[in-house]
Amino acid sequence: MAFLCQWCSYAGADHAGLEREEYPSGILIVKVMCSGRVDPALVLDAYKKGADGVIILACHPGDCHYRSGNLIAMKRHRILLSSLKQLGIPEERCRFDFVSATEGKRFAGLVKEMVVRLKRLGPLSQK
Ligand code: FES
Repeated sequence: MAFLCQWCSYAGADHAGLEREEYPSGILIVKVMCSGRVDPALVLDAYKKGADGVIILACHPGDCHYRSGNLIAMKRHRILLSSLKQLGIPEERCRFDFVSATEGKRFAGLVKEMVVRLKRLGPLSQK
C-alpha cells in the first residue's frame, strides 16, 4: 500500500505514467492531502487488512504545501518502525521517502525496489 501526498508524490506517480515508466501494478495507492495526515493507525490497519508492505511518500524537505507535514511524517515513521518491531513486523516492510511532482522515474524506482524487497520477505500473513 502506498500513501502519497497529493501535491508532490501523487503528481510524481502521475508523471511516471506520463513518462511511461513501468512499475509493479500490485500497489494500492491512497492519495492524502499531505504525508503529515498519515496516521500511524492507518498504517497498522493496512497490515491488519493484508498489506505486505507500506510506503509513505512525501514532498521533499522545504516543499511541503503545509510547511512541515513531511517532517512530521518522517518523525512519525521512525516511531512507527519501533512499534512495528514490537508487533513482529520487520521495518523493511515500511518505508518513508520523498518524491517530487517531476520525479516519475524516482517514484517508479522506489516502488520497484519495495516490491522486490517484499517478494524477498514473502507474504506477511505467513509469518
Ligand atoms: Fe506533500 Fe505535505 S503536502 S508532504
